[in-house]
Amino acid sequence: MRNHFVFNRLTFLFAAMILLTASLTANAQQKSLYHRLGGYDALAAVTDDFIGRLAADKELGRFFTGASDDSKKRIRQLVLDQLCQATGGPCVYIGRDMKTVHKGLKITEKDWDIAVRHLTATLDKFKAPSREKHEVLTAISSLKKDIVEQ
Ligand code: HEM
Repeated sequence: MRNHFVFNRLTFLFAAMILLTASLTANAQQKSLYHRLGGYDALAAVTDDFIGRLAADKELGRFFTGASDDSKKRIRQLVLDQLCQATGGPCVYIGRDMKTVHKGLKITEKDWDIAVRHLTATLDKFKAPSREKHEVLTAISSLKKDIVEQ
């Protein structure tokens, strides 16, 4: 009788552990990219590092010379809002669409490739896991057609 009781308790514990593991796995799968990347502060750090690299780049720096500190802060915030929204975070992007804002800058395919390399370096620096890194790069690559003009 006592053995039977112990066996039942073990079976119950075992079943509970399986259910807990299953629910944790499901939860991890349901988490947004925004949460998997570490939330707002992590995305803000990624944005600052990425924009810093673009502005310091000898090829791409030309796009940002002449912009005041405040204008640069505005662009930074809009990029962050956009990333936050696109990854499923609680932000709303209120900037202009990508085609309108980059039209006339004559951003080339080569410029684009340099920017993607910088974003990859930023994601590596912050040790984004490969699945999340791939998801961010895929999301950004969908903007290429609106940003690259020649
Ligand atoms: C080669 C790559 C890129 C270059 C050289 C570039 C350059 C610029 C420049 C110069 C501006 C300011 C335009 C103006 O106000 O007159 C701008 C604005 C902006 N860019 Fe980019 N950009 C690049 C890629 C991207 C990417 C990948 C994103 C998205 C994550 C992005 C998001 C934005 C946003 C949100 C704004 C501000 C929109 C607004 O003012 O309403 N850009 N970009």
